[in-house]
Amino acid sequence: MPTFEHLFGPDLPEPYRTIFRRRDVRAHFTGGEIAPEVLQRVLFAAHAAPSVGLSQPWDFLIVTSMAKRTSFQAHVSAERERFSACLPPDEKVLFSRIKIEGILESSLGILVTYDPSRAAPHVLGRHTIPDTGLYSVCLAIENLWLAATAENLGVGWVSFYQEEFVRNLFGIPAHIRPVAWLCLGPVHSFADIPDLERHQWRARRPLDTVLHRESWGKKTEESPICGENLRHAPTGDRPQNPHSAQENVAGCSPLPDSSDANKPA
Ligand SMILES: Cc1cc2nc3c(=O)[nH]c(=O)nc-3n(C[C@H](O)[C@H](O)[C@H](O)COP(=O)(O)O)c2cc1C
Repeated sequence: MPTFEHLFGPDLPEPYRTIFRRRDVRAHFTGGEIAPEVLQRVLFAAHAAPSVGLSQPWDFLIVTSMAKRTSFQAHVSAERERFSACLPPDEKVLFSRIKIEGILESSLGILVTYDPSRAAPHVLGRHTIPDTGLYSVCLAIENLWLAATAENLGVGWVSFYQEEFVRNLFGIPAHIRPVAWLCLGPVHSFADIPDLERHQWRARRPLDTVLHRESWGKKTEESPICGENLRHAPTGDRPQNPHSAQENVAGCSPLPDSSDANKPA
């Protein structure tokens, strides 16, 4: 499998190197300390993210308490079971091999939240698309993730939870949405390929399968952006797990409509 270094050469400048090194980490945490000045830098980077109307609708709740983390982890395990119960047998076996969190093994957790009431009601740019508030929080998370990677810290995003459970556990007001639990800490190493690819759950798509030119569905073959070397990069020749295209499996509830929860205040 070609790596980004193989494709683009060894002298790729920043931030590309950090972007391509970034991994979702679950199993490789050392549990070591994070120096306070490093944590400060990483959080500062998150807080420097762009946001709709400069609303900065995020908060970062740092959790070191093992008691809290153990309660959260038990809830995540139960949600994992619920998801597993929805899967067809062969996919269930595949899923059973995949670690989905490093809540206790990481050095700490950062709960990132979204406050739709911040800078409201006149959030410049959000009147047309309420989701832009949530997008802003995700950009803060990506900043945090990349800064952590540059500091050789791993980040693992955990979303196997019910928002209400998390609100109750951490005393979060009802109008604030928990967006991500991020496991953070030093790592033994960063894996070259994502865990989900390694377990053949799902493969990263080749870039040209998601490119359109001028109108939707019009491909770029006439003047390709991807040369032959990128056409199948980085992992496009991996078979897709046939079941993972299934969005709703019998017995599982369909995706909830989050549009109401995300209406601006
Ligand atoms: C919104 C979001 C939620 C995620 N939730 C989980 C999760 O609950 N458990 C998990 O193991 N990974 C989770 N991930 C990580 C993805 O599985 C991971 O990003 C993907 O497999 C690609 O791997 P990479 O990040 O190492 O490139 C989440 C990622 C995102 C963006």
